Amino acid sequence: MSFILALDQGTSSSRSIIFDASGKMVGMAQREFRQIFPKPGWVEHDPREIWSTQRDTALEALAKAKLTAKDIAAIGITNQRETTIVWNRQTGEPIYNAIVWQDRRAEPTCAELRQQNLGAYVAQSTGLLIDAYFSATKLHWILEHVPQARALAQKGDLAFGTVDSWLIWQLTGGASHATDVSNASRTMMFNIQRNDWDHKILEMLNIPSSVLPQVLSSSAAFGETDASVFGQSIPIGGVAGDQQSALFGQACFEPGMAKNTYGTGCFMLMHTGHQFQQSANGLITTAAAQPDDVTRFALEGSIFIGGAVVQWLRDGLRAITSSTEVQPLAESVPDSGGVMFVPAFTGLGAPYWAPDARGTIVGLTRGTTVAHIARAALESIAFQSAALLQAMNRDVVAAGGVPVSELRVDGGACVNDLLMQIQADLLGIPVVRPAVIETTALGAAYLAGLQSGVYKNLQDLSGQWRVDRTFHPTLPSGQAQERMRRWEQAVRQATAA
Ligand code: G3P
Repeated sequence: MSFILALDQGTSSSRSIIFDASGKMVGMAQREFRQIFPKPGWVEHDPREIWSTQRDTALEALAKAKLTAKDIAAIGITNQRETTIVWNRQTGEPIYNAIVWQDRRAEPTCAELRQQNLGAYVAQSTGLLIDAYFSATKLHWILEHVPQARALAQKGDLAFGTVDSWLIWQLTGGASHATDVSNASRTMMFNIQRNDWDHKILEMLNIPSSVLPQVLSSSAAFGETDASVFGQSIPIGGVAGDQQSALFGQACFEPGMAKNTYGTGCFMLMHTGHQFQQSANGLITTAAAQPDDVTRFALEGSIFIGGAVVQWLRDGLRAITSSTEVQPLAESVPDSGGVMFVPAFTGLGAPYWAPDARGTIVGLTRGTTVAHIARAALESIAFQSAALLQAMNRDVVAAGGVPVSELRVDGGACVNDLLMQIQADLLGIPVVRPAVIETTALGAAYLAGLQSGVYKNLQDLSGQWRVDRTFHPTLPSGQAQERMRRWEQAVRQATAA
């Protein structure tokens, strides 16, 4: 009974990974699901597909590992954050598609809130800045636009949840409507200093508190799975938003420790301990995964287009047929030949927060080839991440701390050695890739393992973390600074477009 099943519900796919007590993966399954784009700037998922792909991968992972429910000590859930689902408590049916974190439709509501000068209040309470990225204005949109939504809410028949809550509801057969602090902290209606819903924001957006889930620590008793799902019930012991889960899985438990996850987007988080710290440099403050009821915080920079730029090279530009081709193509030229690629396809996130910026490629010459563009695309991931780390360091130094001395990396694109080397060169600090790069799932497994007694404490977990490879900077700092200067110039062009 010392295996843990981690459900990792991401933006592009649902994955399930089974870990043994030493943190080794013993079974894994993954399924992609439909991305729905009803209008420019709108992104939706079908909540039923989220659930069915998640359940199917869990069953497949168990079968692959030759295990059954009785071998699983606990389930940990980690998920794409902010994505908003509303369902009918009576029927269990969603009343609308999931509005995905990338969806920009709620921007007009955000503009109104900004106009009412609510930015400072929202930042102080939730740690966030007002943006359509977060759940609150998406939930408001559903309540305003979906027929019957208001009436159902008034009767107490509606439930809101981020993806974790939706999965918990499905897994427990509707017995539990819960979330954890790290997911709640992404809704823009949760006070992360008091760990409680913010009633002033709820009122401003006309959101009844009856729709909200119960908020628990990240290691807690979230419910038992209904026996019909896995043949026998399993406790759900850990829940965290995917980026906070990755910070936990990277064993970044101390202030100053930072990680960057290279997925569809890129998310850099730095633990700031028990200190609620606000950024003066475009980062947000978020609740870190909390294994107990003590508040823990992180500074976060979110990049909307990370690995997705490679998908665009494949599906949009048709420059490659598979993502694995990008590294050899980019390596076929010594540099980008002066090309700069700002992948602001959905505006720019941190530290720029420019919703109207658009994707921009500058520096094209007659000699430019698709290889230069591929290299510039890869570099754009590293440039955006370097800009985040610089912003983070400015905050840390202003608060009397020391700059980040190494960056732990994970996520699909961190297997790309060229990208990791470019990253170390731009940052000027070592970039450290751990032996297990599935740290998002691992974090959820750790949280569930703490709750179920597989692990005793955080020291147990730190002791398991192992390095695969460290990338040391090789570029003289003057050259790195010059490259960053050119990047910032390209960003200015993208935001002026
Ligand atoms: O905030 C959005 C983030 O949680 C999505 O992560 O890995 O699904 O791109 P990912």
